[in-house]
Amino acid sequence: MTMMKTLKMSVAALALTATHAVAEDVEVLHWWTSGGEAAALNVLKEDLQGQGIGWNDMPVAGGGGEAAMTTLRARVTAGNAPTAVQMLGFDIKDWAAEGALGNLDSVAADGSWDEVVPDALQNFSKDADGHWIAAPVNVHSTNWVWISKSALDATGMDAPESWEDLIAVLDAMKDNGITPLAHGGQAWQDATIFDAVVLSLGDDFYKASMIDLDPGALGGEKMVEAFQRMETLRGYVDDNFSGRDWNLASAMVIDGSAGMQMMGDWAKGEFLRADQVPGEDFVCIRFPGTQGAVTFNSDQFAMFKVDEGQEAQLAMAASVMDPAFQSAFNVVKGSVPARTDVPNDAFDDCGKKGMADLADANSAGRLFGSMAHGHSVPAGVKNAMYDVITAHFNGEFSAEEAAEEMVNAVEAAM
Ligand code: GAL
Repeated sequence: MTMMKTLKMSVAALALTATHAVAEDVEVLHWWTSGGEAAALNVLKEDLQGQGIGWNDMPVAGGGGEAAMTTLRARVTAGNAPTAVQMLGFDIKDWAAEGALGNLDSVAADGSWDEVVPDALQNFSKDADGHWIAAPVNVHSTNWVWISKSALDATGMDAPESWEDLIAVLDAMKDNGITPLAHGGQAWQDATIFDAVVLSLGDDFYKASMIDLDPGALGGEKMVEAFQRMETLRGYVDDNFSGRDWNLASAMVIDGSAGMQMMGDWAKGEFLRADQVPGEDFVCIRFPGTQGAVTFNSDQFAMFKVDEGQEAQLAMAASVMDPAFQSAFNVVKGSVPARTDVPNDAFDDCGKKGMADLADANSAGRLFGSMAHGHSVPAGVKNAMYDVITAHFNGEFSAEEAAEEMVNAVEAAM
C-alpha cells in the first residue's frame, strides 16, 4: 500500500468517526439558568451522557423563556436550528405549523406515550395531523404560593385559604417589619400572579377570559375586580422589585426577609437547592380561592429538523420520557411527571400534593392551560395581555382602564 493510499484511508476513517461523533451530540437550547433549574438540567445532562449522547449547552437566561424564543427565531432564520429546544404550549404548535419540527412517532410508539401522557399535554405534543413532535418532561403549575414558615409562624396565623385570609396574613407580615410579598417586576412574573388572581375569581371566569377570549369576560366587572386585586397585591411588594429575577425573589423568602412568593412550582427548586424542607422551612399552598383547580404549563423538548443528529434526537426524546428519569428530574425541578404512571415515592410533600392536585383537577375538569406560560393562547395574544397587566401593575392604568385595554389589546393581536 502506498503512503498516499494509507493516508487517504485514515482520513476517511477519521471523517467517519467525526460524523459519528456529531450524530451522537445534541445541542440543547433552554432557559434553565437559576440554581434549582441548573440542578435539574444536570440530571438530564448526566442521564444523556451516561448513554454516550454528548451535550452542547445553549442557555438563554430569562425566566419564562421569552429571550430564549427570540434567540431561537434568530437561529432558525439563519438556517442554524439547535437540535433540541425547551418549549412551551402554543410555541410548539406554531413551530410545528411552520413544518420546522421532526417526527417522534417511532419513539412515541415504542414507549406507548399515547397511553401514559395526559390528553391536556398531548394536545401540545402533537401537530395538527396527530404526529408526536415534542416530548413533555414535566408538568408545572402557576397557582402556588411559597411561604416562609418562620414568617408565617410570627403572624400567629394559619396558611391563608381565602382572599380575606391572604390579606390578613400579608398585613400581619407587614406589621412584623418584613416585605410581605417577594416579587420581581418582569412582565411574565406579573402575568404569573395574574393567572392565579383570575382563577381565584372562578373557573368559568378563567376559561372565558384566558382561554375563550370572550370580550364580555375580558372587559367585564370580574376583570375589573381582578385588576383591583392586582393593585392590592402591588401594595405588599418592596420598592426595589422592578426587573428583579424570580429566583432572587425566591431568595428573599428563603432568607426570611420576605414572607411569601406567588410563583410556579419551579420556585420549589430554589428552596430545595438552599436545603430547605417543605413543612419545616417553607409552606406550599394553592393560591387562596383556587384550591382544586390547576393552571398548568409543561416544558417539552421539541426536535428541529436537522441534517445530522436525528439518532441522538430520538435517543434524547426516549430518555426524557423514561419513567425513572421523569421521577429523578422532577423531584429536583419542583414540577411533577408528565406521565401518569410514575410513582410519587421519591417526591416531597409539595411534590406529592402537586401530583394529587393535577390528577384531581384533571378528572374534575378543573385543569386549565396557564396564560402566563404559553398554554392558553398563542404568543401574540399572550404578549398583548402581558403589556396591559404590566402597565397596570406599574400604575399606568386604573383597574377599569386595564379591563378595557384587555379587550382592545386582545382584539388587535388576533
Ligand atoms: C417556565 C418554565 C419553567 C421555569 C420557569 C422560570 O416557563 O416552564 O420550567 O423554567 O419558566 O424560568
